[in-house]
This record gives sequence, C-alpha cells and structure tokens, in this order.
Amino acid sequence: MEKKWRTALTQHVGHETYIRGYRLLDLVGNLSFAQAIYLLLKGELPSEKESEMMEAMLVSIIDHGIAPPSVISARAVASGGNSLNVGVAAGVLAFGSAHGGALEDAMKFIQEGVRSGRAVEEIVREYLEAKRPIPGYGHRYYKDFDPRTKRLMEVAKGLGFYDRHCQFAEEVQEEIGKQKGKKLVLNVDGAIASIASEMGFDWRLGKGFFIIGRVPGLVAHVYEELTTEKPFSKRLDEERETEYTGVPPRDLPEEFRKV
Ligand SMILES: CC(C)(COP(=O)(O)OP(=O)(O)OC[C@H]1O[C@@H](n2cnc3c(N)ncnc32)[C@H](O)[C@@H]1OP(=O)(O)O)[C@@H](O)C(=O)NCCC(=O)NCCS
Repeated sequence: MEKKWRTALTQHVGHETYIRGYRLLDLVGNLSFAQAIYLLLKGELPSEKESEMMEAMLVSIIDHGIAPPSVISARAVASGGNSLNVGVAAGVLAFGSAHGGALEDAMKFIQEGVRSGRAVEEIVREYLEAKRPIPGYGHRYYKDFDPRTKRLMEVAKGLGFYDRHCQFAEEVQEEIGKQKGKKLVLNVDGAIASIASEMGFDWRLGKGFFIIGRVPGLVAHVYEELTTEKPFSKRLDEERETEYTGVPPRDLPEEFRKV
C-alpha cells in the first residue's frame, strides 16, 4: 500500500541516517555546510566549482545591516519580549517580492526569458509599459552598481558559471537603462538568481536560497537585540518620527452617547 507521507531526502536505516543516500556521519567533517546544502537541494554532491560558487552566493547575502524590513521585523518582535525563534521567524515572514522574495521571482523571470528566446528589448518594454517591477533590478542604496553583484559575477566568471542566464540578466540591466533613461542595477537577488539558474536550480528554490543565506544574519540581530537592548526599545518617537494624517479630534455625535 502506498504510504501517506513520502520523502526522497533522508532515510533512517537502523541507527544510521542517510542524506540523499549518503551516510550522514560520512558527511560530517568531510563536507562544508554549503556543500551539504547543495546535496540536500540538488540531490547530488557538488563539484569543486559548484561548491565554491555555492559558498560565495550564500556568504554574499549573510547580512546587510539593520535597515532592511526583515531585520526591522525581527528586532521589533524580539523587543516586544519574544524569544529568539519568534524574532527570527518574524524576520523570515518579511521576505516578500521587494526583499528576498525577489530572488525567486528573478529566477523565474530569467529562466523564462532565456527559454523563450524573445528579444530582451521586447521583454523589458512589456514590464515597463505595464509598470510592473522587474524582479532583481533596482536598489534602495545602490544606484550605480550593487557591489555584491559585481563580486559574484567575477567569481561566476572565474568558475565558469557565467553563461546565457548571467548574460541575459546583464542585458536586461542595459536595456532598462536605455528605455527608462535611468540605471536600475542588477541587485544581489538578481545576480544570485542568474547564477543559480546557470547551475540548474529550479526557480521555486529562489526564496529558499535567500532564507538559507540570511537566517544567520537574523539570528545574530535577534541575539544582539535580546542581549544588548532593553525590551520595548524598538518603538517610534511619536512626535519626532510619526505623522498623523487623519481627521482632527471631534465630538462623538449625541445619538451615539450612552454615558
Ligand atoms: C528594491 C526597490 C523596492 C527599490 O525601489 P526604489 O527605491 O523606489 O527605486 P528607485 O527610487 O531607484 O526607482 C526609480 C524608478 O525606477 C522604478 N523601478 C525601480 N525598480 C524597478 C524595477 N525593478 N523594475 C521596473 N521599474 C523599477 C521606480 O518605480 C521608479 O520609477 P519612476 O522614476 O518612474 O517613478 C525596487 O527597485 C524593486 O521593487 N525592485 C524589484 C524587486 C527586487 O529586486 N528587490 C530586491 C532588492 S535587493
């Protein structure tokens, strides 16, 4: 009879655990964390070059300061008096189409774009005319180039992972500049999206890459919040930092008054 729950990831045989068919204890001490992640996600061991690329991609997104929405969420929730796992989970919940989630959208965009063989000019025009954000492009701070993208592309070139997907991603950046008359950088999500596509990863793993890469940063932020800041420190100064945009104070009409 077919069993209700199935997995091709991990198996227990007696007291031994096997990950994708390899004995877990053989992996311990022999594989790096990034290599083990590759094995788990892809099902096979990475080559030396794939291992190096994987390491570089995950390191590039480990943290990006206190300002992004995920860190604000994580630290605010921790400051409300919650434990580490609750704060980290709140940070992960902030990953959406503008932050982190863009990696998944960008992988889909790049893979479909390359597969379609359509002209980059036409693809970009469609997005810009519909005022749809092109995933993987643009950044709050980086207006000229995203330094993480520059570095990752250098590493990708050195390791032989700069091919059609990376080219497509850079062509789109050029084309946006031409059509919009303003540069929108290929950001780190877009860079990882193009390289991971080059490595044959499914776009549906895109958000997973961001989660795996950024959770260490969130853990460190929440730990710092809990150990160095006072509870409730993450609040706004209502007078200085907030603006009320509603109606001015008014009287409750007589017909609603019971007391
Ligand atoms: C990250 C992001 C929210 C930054 O937005 P921002 O600070 O408003 O960006 P800018 O101020 O430089 O935007 C300038 C112009 O480009 C447009 N724009 C920005 N990113 C765009 C994109 N990815 N595709 C199309 N147009 C974009 C803006 O709408 C704005 O248009 P306007 O001048 O006609 O009003 C935005 O670029 C975005 O949503 N990118 C796609 C998602 C993504 O890749 N996120 C990961 C970030 S690491």
